[in-house]
Amino acid sequence: MKRNLITINYIAYMLLFVTATFVSSCDKAFIPENETTISNSSEDESHYFGQNCMECHHSAGHGEGWFTLAGSTKGNYYMATIELYYDTINPPVHKIEVDQKGNFYTTNEINYQTPYLVGLRNQNNDIKYMKSKISVGQCSLCHGATTSTLNINW
Ligand code: HEC
Ligand code: HEC
Repeated sequence: MKRNLITINYIAYMLLFVTATFVSSCDKAFIPENETTISNSSEDESHYFGQNCMECHHSAGHGEGWFTLAGSTKGNYYMATIELYYDTINPPVHKIEVDQKGNFYTTNEINYQTPYLVGLRNQNNDIKYMKSKISVGQCSLCHGATTSTLNINW
């Protein structure tokens, strides 16, 4: 009888231990993690062309990396870059290469308090600017939704 009790206690203890381990590993899986994830012309790891990447890649989302700027462009985007400027005199404040799928993204800190002039530069060094300045990095909020998808075939 006593022996059984000890066994039951032992099993109960083990169960508690297993549950505790399970719960804590679960918790861990739901803590969103931020990693440095920046597109470049030799990467092809991205996906969801044209969708708003930040629907998933934000601090509460499940996509790896909290993007501060991301979007997609059609056309001949080989070696193309997205550039953020304060003005047309100084060099760009941020420069992001478009990847092999036409997507561009970065987790680098971008301060949107001062709106940026944004440009799309092709491999021949021609640049097209957006007329209005931007203070948000979610390009596909508008491009492909309320205005045309970015297209570098000019
Ligand atoms: C529906 C949710 C969702 C959307 C929308 C989404 N992603 Fe993701 N993304 C994920 C998840 C989840 C992962 C991690 C698992 C995986 O690789 O599929 C991920 C992984 C990635 C990775 C790989 C990161 C690494 O370090 O390996 C890149 C790059 C990426 N996404 C870019 C983008 C870009 C660019 C967009 C927008 C054009 C985008 N994602 C839109 C959910 C999403
Ligand atoms: C609030 C909506 C909105 C957001 C967000 C937005 N755009 Fe635009 N974009 C527009 C509109 C509308 C136009 C066309 C009129 C203009 O140039 O201002 C445009 C034009 C452009 C052009 C010029 C295209 C051409 O062929 O002349 C570029 C380049 C551009 N956007 C890049 C971007 C990038 C990169 C982002 C994300 C960092 C972005 N835009 C975010 C609305 C937006």
